[in-house]
Amino acid sequence: MDQNKFIDDLISQMTVEEKAAQMLQVPVSVVGMDAAREWARKGVGSFLNALGSEMEELQKVSCEESRLKVPVIFGIDAVHGHGLNRKATIFPSQLAMAASWNKDIAHKAAEVTATEVATDGIHWNFSPVLCLARDPRWGRTDETFGEDKYLAGELGAAMIEGYQGDDLSDDTSVLACAKHFIGYGEATGARDSYDTEITFRKIRDEFLPPFRKAIDAGCATVMSAYGSIDGTPLTVNKKALRGILRDEMGFDGVTVTDWDTVNALITRQRVCGNHGDASRLAADAGNDMIMCTMEYYDAVIEEVKSGRLDEAVLDEAVRHILTVKCRLGVWEKPLKTGKPGSIGCDEHHEAALEAARGSVVLLKNDGILPLDPGKKIRKIAVIGPNADDIRAQYGDWTYFTHPVPGIEKEPERPYVTLLEGIREQTESTGIKVEYSYGCSVNRMGYYKGNFAGIPEFMEQCYKDNAHRYDSYKEMPYINEAAAMARSADIIILALGDNYNQHGEYNDRADLRLSGMQEALFRVLSTLHIPLITVLISSKPLAIPEVVKKSDAVICAFNGGMYGGRAVAETIFGKLNPSGRLPISFPYTTGQVPVYYNQFPGWHEGRYVDCPEKPLFAFGEGLSYTWYEYSDLKFDAASKTVSVNVKNTGDKAGTEVVQIYVEDVVSSVMTAVKNLAGFSRVELQPGESKEVSIRLDDEAFMITRPDETRVIEPGEFVIYAGHSSKDEDLLKVSVTL
Ligand code: BGC
Repeated sequence: MDQNKFIDDLISQMTVEEKAAQMLQVPVSVVGMDAAREWARKGVGSFLNALGSEMEELQKVSCEESRLKVPVIFGIDAVHGHGLNRKATIFPSQLAMAASWNKDIAHKAAEVTATEVATDGIHWNFSPVLCLARDPRWGRTDETFGEDKYLAGELGAAMIEGYQGDDLSDDTSVLACAKHFIGYGEATGARDSYDTEITFRKIRDEFLPPFRKAIDAGCATVMSAYGSIDGTPLTVNKKALRGILRDEMGFDGVTVTDWDTVNALITRQRVCGNHGDASRLAADAGNDMIMCTMEYYDAVIEEVKSGRLDEAVLDEAVRHILTVKCRLGVWEKPLKTGKPGSIGCDEHHEAALEAARGSVVLLKNDGILPLDPGKKIRKIAVIGPNADDIRAQYGDWTYFTHPVPGIEKEPERPYVTLLEGIREQTESTGIKVEYSYGCSVNRMGYYKGNFAGIPEFMEQCYKDNAHRYDSYKEMPYINEAAAMARSADIIILALGDNYNQHGEYNDRADLRLSGMQEALFRVLSTLHIPLITVLISSKPLAIPEVVKKSDAVICAFNGGMYGGRAVAETIFGKLNPSGRLPISFPYTTGQVPVYYNQFPGWHEGRYVDCPEKPLFAFGEGLSYTWYEYSDLKFDAASKTVSVNVKNTGDKAGTEVVQIYVEDVVSSVMTAVKNLAGFSRVELQPGESKEVSIRLDDEAFMITRPDETRVIEPGEFVIYAGHSSKDEDLLKVSVTL
């Protein structure tokens, strides 16, 4: 039967109650199975956080015991791998993957994740995050592609295509979800879910571009954000959800609220006094599916029956939901079948390793790297809290940070920490590898989240609250590490953050190394033994002293299950690193925001007590070879940049050619420059290639105060080179 007719027929048979239920997404992990079964009988639209037999049972109830037998769809957060399944493949965090500047890696990671998620029967993945992390104090920095709208859009679109494949009804395709719409990463003071003090002009200019690309890539669902813009919560922001997303951007898929945001309109944001108002406003603003606010059901029914809300609003939302269900083919196949046996298979693990390799960023190398095992290295001291801590390496949204209630076992998947990676690389070399913990990353225990399955862990967190924990108790461990290191030829020190310093609720006011890590570093750096520091963290940290006094610094972010192997391969030169920073590193916390594409100021250095420039800028990253740029040209007719790149070193490598555009004079201020294109180029020693990159119109567009988007004719500067830093770029001036 024709799909539209099928949906029209179905809607015409639905009661208001059934429409309200179809708009609801119920969290099985919160309500429990008895309540979930009841919701399934009422004809609820979707469940989240269910796995295995629970899903089968709930789908059976929906298909057999609900009046209209509309199948439900199941959702999950598998944001860098299907992390809540103990056997699934764990990729680097989104931020770490962004460091690869590699769309193929993002696409493959999403394809693998979709296959694993679908093999568990699930239809819908709440990924990717397209928010920008311009203030790294934000707890969810690791979930983003970093600070730049262009990079986020390119990688986000690649992931969406990877999740959704060519056809949503394929066994291994799942719905992607572009989130969080919109401006969520820009919350005041980087406090998760706080108000965003920005204008819609800025929204259009800075934050919509990745979402535009997501929608062009066919993203089937969009999640509205927790926060608010200038006092209007996104959950009721009609201008954002209807005006911009639907009417202007042409989005025709499903919108879903974030977790319990309809309730938050009453309890937190206080723009509604009761569930009737909250539910009516949320539906009217354009939310199709309401995540986790079960009170919505009764309230919205009452709003329609009393005439305060037009039933057509519900019809429209239900139409979007049923359309997506038709595209998924749930009537024919109520649960995804995926690819049996594929969860955690060798091919998927290989993809995770490739992604980890892509995400390694070499930030400093005074010549010590790569280590040559043949050259008189007798002993390597591997030290530091993150050298052998898989929880720190995985990052957020894995089994540890969101354990499935009731299951207390450790994940059952192979992994390689940095220590293990170093051992692999030195196995048959005769080099002795010794390990010492050094100190803990933190004992802050600020975690207020839901460690439902492991109460003793939560208790420990509270017990070790930062205010009470005396870090100096750790001096003996530091001394022990130093004593072990004294007889070493090389120290490899892994510092960073851990799982209770990132994610929702976990913003940071201080970006220095936490706990006794700075003390550990100082003690080790005074030994005058060559020191390689590896940063395993969810975000950039303010580490000027570490950078100054280390002989080499590698940034790994959260490299996933094989992150340690990729870093060890880099240290021993098996891998020539090609990662580039997707986010700038501040000197000190007070310097943030320090993202590269700010408006020009005119009082030069902005602080008297800190350099104007960041510690490391967007796009930076070294390799074991050098690249020389020449012959930059721009063809205005085709908007194509071409530039010659030569590998002038003696090792093969991959350069990430970066193109930036500056609008010289415009009617509103514009950024000093914006990334407008990039390309990864493999070059043998001595080899040159001409790289051509066609720029989109978007690269030249501005948003005027009246919110219209135009290209104003005039002069533009096109930059090409190795990073966003002026000294790394060639430039040419053009008139359009
Ligand atoms: C997060 C979303 C996530 C949702 C469902 C929320 O707390 O903000 O990103 O998709 O929970 O788990």
